[in-house]
Amino acid sequence: MIECVYCNERYDNDEIIYNCKKCGSVLEVSLDVNVSKDIFESRKDTLWKYKEFMPVDESKIVSLDEGGTPFCKCEKLSKELDVELYVKVEGSNPTGSFKDRGMSVGITKAMELGVDIVGCASTGNTSASLAAYAARAGFRCIVLLPSGKVALGKLAQAMFHGAEVLSVNGNFDEALEVVTQLALEKHLYLLNSINPYRLEGQKSIGFEIIHELGWESPDRIILPVGNAGNISAIWKGITEFYNAGYMKDKPMMTGIQAEGACPIVNAFRKNSRDMIPVENPETIATAIRIGAPVSSIKALSAIYDSNGYSETVTDDEILSAQKELAQKEGIGVEPASAASIAGLKKLVNQGEIDKGEKIVCVVTGHLLKDPQTAIDACAKPTQIDADIEKLRSILMKKPN
Ligand code: F0G
Repeated sequence: MIECVYCNERYDNDEIIYNCKKCGSVLEVSLDVNVSKDIFESRKDTLWKYKEFMPVDESKIVSLDEGGTPFCKCEKLSKELDVELYVKVEGSNPTGSFKDRGMSVGITKAMELGVDIVGCASTGNTSASLAAYAARAGFRCIVLLPSGKVALGKLAQAMFHGAEVLSVNGNFDEALEVVTQLALEKHLYLLNSINPYRLEGQKSIGFEIIHELGWESPDRIILPVGNAGNISAIWKGITEFYNAGYMKDKPMMTGIQAEGACPIVNAFRKNSRDMIPVENPETIATAIRIGAPVSSIKALSAIYDSNGYSETVTDDEILSAQKELAQKEGIGVEPASAASIAGLKKLVNQGEIDKGEKIVCVVTGHLLKDPQTAIDACAKPTQIDADIEKLRSILMKKPN
């Protein structure tokens, strides 16, 4: 069943619906799974390893082997911050972000429903992922992007996989509003995270974290928050595994936003469950440049129900955490993803995070998604002749 998270009104699984008809709130798929966790052990390392928890028809699966992403312990940062830090590297998904998990399940649902056209509004990654999965499934694909505010790699992917790319004079929130209207008029099947099937795929990040840690919960999961789908999805996954009896504890869900785009943090600071929109969101982390997240009610519940936290970070803190992760641990992520590491550092400094906590930071997208920001953050390459003497003299010098 599909269920309203606010008034609990229920809808059939095959109804194409994005908001509750009774109260207008967001929806989620409710399911009741009763299997032993042993069945997951011998299966291939993709999100479909947990197929019993994916409420779609198995014979229609559209997959690029998403999920099963690296789970890396960060020894240097752990030592510096006096915590036990792991990062879940979502940039290793087929199109380079966690969106592929949601898109695999969402497009599978679209196959089941027999739709022709799929679409989304996006700050970039959703469009890249949708374009690829729509190509694989054979759907016409329309994506709406905020003009001039989408990182180069993402734009290249959406265009190259054959999506019809519409560059909207407006921000993400405005683009989402118009594409939702198109979907309500049944011109296309909407694959933003307001579609509850998207989040069913993304909850597998939570599954994998628990499985990787030997069926134990970390103390805390930290991740960047934009449209607020992913934190909601991971919490749903954690709750499902907990209810299935696979582990004994649950983590504190910790959502990080950019200072210039922080409607969830604004609500958290007032202890409210209603987000406080930001009219003109702005941040270098364009992926999370969002002022009115559609899944705010779910995200704030996840934070409060898990005894979690929410905090902002500045663009400078994001860029320096991005560089630190790349240069100390060898993990290249896009700016929005580094908000999780920047948030971790800030919360350690504030004393909000205890010494020795076991922490998982979800790093959501690959460094190459936004090559321009990476290049701008570095000194220019040294231009030299192919001359052995000159090369020797450079090697003798100490690097800066
Ligand atoms: N990190 C990256 C790299 C993202 O692309 C996004 C969202 C987020 C974090 C935030 O996740 O929205 O579930 O809270 N990107 C969307 C897009 C909005 O259109 O690609 P969220």
